[in-house]
Amino acid sequence: MNGADYIPRPGHGAAWLTGASSGIGKAVAARMVEDGWTVYITARSEDKLNEMAAGSGGKLIAAPGDVTDPEAMKAIVERIDAAEGLALAILNAGVYIPLPASEFTVEDAKKHFDVNLQGVVNGLVPAMQSMLARKTGCLALVSSVAGYRGLPKSGAYGATKAALINMAEALAFNLYPEGVRISLICPGFVETDATAVNDFDMPFLMQPNEAADRIVDGLKTKKFEITFPRRFSFMLKSFRLLPAKTYIWLGRKALGMDKE
Ligand SMILES: NC(=O)c1ccc[n+]([C@@H]2O[C@H](COP(=O)([O-])OP(=O)(O)OC[C@H]3O[C@@H](n4cnc5c(N)ncnc54)[C@H](OP(=O)(O)O)[C@@H]3O)[C@@H](O)[C@H]2O)c1
Repeated sequence: MNGADYIPRPGHGAAWLTGASSGIGKAVAARMVEDGWTVYITARSEDKLNEMAAGSGGKLIAAPGDVTDPEAMKAIVERIDAAEGLALAILNAGVYIPLPASEFTVEDAKKHFDVNLQGVVNGLVPAMQSMLARKTGCLALVSSVAGYRGLPKSGAYGATKAALINMAEALAFNLYPEGVRISLICPGFVETDATAVNDFDMPFLMQPNEAADRIVDGLKTKKFEITFPRRFSFMLKSFRLLPAKTYIWLGRKALGMDKE
């Protein structure tokens, strides 16, 4: 089967979800259990994962780990494969620190690159190798609408999310003929610990459970990209058509930044 047509189902094996201890990931884990999945849940907070697992009737299995540790990620994939086989990997762990130019530091940029980009690669590579060997499976990378165009204070965060969009597109070319699907998830604003730091009104703000429904339902379709809320995502995506100079000029006007 062409990987683009593959729809992962609980009977095909287990799912793996990173960034599962809070926010969008925690809500996705709960929704997947409702759908009958066994989900290996990864994050650094072992206590939170154990608590989630304890109330799940054996459907959530704690697999604690730091996504910046490639050996730990490889070991989790090997553990899942030894148990029941990995059918779906949702690489969702991420960090967000708003960084205006005056506060943009090497250390903060590196935190984004280590977790949001290299951290995804550390899980993606063993998961992809496992699926390529079995010629089936679905990989899902959690990017963001912030990856479509540069946004204020998102120079490091947005760069990692734009990189994931490019990575997913590039890998799709080679994965589909091998029976493996790759999907891209681009949420707009979701109310979580990550966005609690924002000091502005977030347009079209969604709750984590709504985001989880969009993600889990989207993975049941053959969509390459799962993005929401639709109007916000469409608006940001359409900005890609503008030349950069026009986009930045319009953005500064719309956000009232010309007064600064
Ligand atoms: N919220 C939004 O508006 C929004 C919009 C678009 C995209 N996203 C993306 O959605 C994903 C989830 O974000 P969220 O809003 O749900 O954030 P969140 O509530 O802060 O959750 C982040 C998750 O990532 C885990 N994590 C962070 N660093 C990690 C590391 N080094 N190793 C393993 N796990 C790590 C955290 O667990 P531990 O701290 O326990 O490790 C936590 O489970 C991120 O990739 C984010 O960029 C969010």
